[in-house]
Amino acid sequence: MNQAELIRALPKAELHVHIEGTFEPELMFAIAQRNRIEIPYKSVEEVKQAYNFHNLQSFLDIYYAGANVLIYEQDFYDLAWAYFEKCAEDHVVHTEIFFDPQTHTDRGIAFETVITGLKRACDDAHEKLNISSHLIMCFLRHLSEDAAFETLQQALAYKDQIIAVGLDSSEVGHPPSKFERVFAKAREAGFLVVAHAGEEGPADYVWQALDLLKVNRIDHGVRSEEDETLMQRLIAEKMPLTVCPLSNLKLCVVDDMAQHNIQRLLQQGVKVTVNSDDPSYFGGYMNDNYFAIAEALNLTTEELKQLAKNAFEASFITDAEKKMWIERIDALI
Ligand code: HPA
Ligand code: ZN
Repeated sequence: MNQAELIRALPKAELHVHIEGTFEPELMFAIAQRNRIEIPYKSVEEVKQAYNFHNLQSFLDIYYAGANVLIYEQDFYDLAWAYFEKCAEDHVVHTEIFFDPQTHTDRGIAFETVITGLKRACDDAHEKLNISSHLIMCFLRHLSEDAAFETLQQALAYKDQIIAVGLDSSEVGHPPSKFERVFAKAREAGFLVVAHAGEEGPADYVWQALDLLKVNRIDHGVRSEEDETLMQRLIAEKMPLTVCPLSNLKLCVVDDMAQHNIQRLLQQGVKVTVNSDDPSYFGGYMNDNYFAIAEALNLTTEELKQLAKNAFEASFITDAEKKMWIERIDALI
């Protein structure tokens, strides 16, 4: 088996993907047309040309605009189903999907519409594609603490359909400390918790996510390398980082894939995983992310297998399921 064949053959778990970030321009056009919504582009080509962002905020502006065409339950179903088809192609067997309810409820779309469409796609993916999944509800950190509390309140009615809460959107200027009380209430209600930290924001935000939000995983976290004491803590606590290589390249978190720190972090014993973040916007799904780092960093077979195993270990599936997938990875040669 050559390296590309190994990457394709590895069973993979995805732990960092925003469902709104899987919105392919073709589907965006089709949904805009059937919902009779104007979008500021004449063609799929024009949409793709608009994807020339160079930092998180310039990306987010376009990402939120694209989500405006999603109105009906079927739209959310179609969005998630298209992503599950990509998972099937890439042999992603388990995925933990972020969704941003506030992007939709602020436009007058009911929370119920969003979650019902997504959940129905998750159920169908399990039945028809044999892909398991969990939903993670993210708070938009550029919005207020009050707005996050309101969103948490709405989520309580769907507690059994949401495994965890997370924190995304514009990082710098919106530290984890802003959401300490909301996360405490979410944990009390029985949600697991994750947060984006150390993508564009400093290592201090990773400390805050650990100490104030008490997260089970850090999303991104690549800037942790700037703080040696933090690195020792991540290693000692086996704290997973959900790293997104193509995202980091596209948003200029790194200048060049050959300089990405995922291999250094892995070699030091940090539990890093590979993820696609917003694959429609950043140039690729799970396997594209593996291909990009394998080539730029000359990853070994053992390193690739370790990355895939880390994702199952860091996931929110049962210990028996983790063991089964890890044994399957070990059995690959
Ligand atoms: N960072 C923060 N917010 C986001 C991202 C991201 O990478 N993708 C979608 N929302
Ligand atoms: Zn993200």
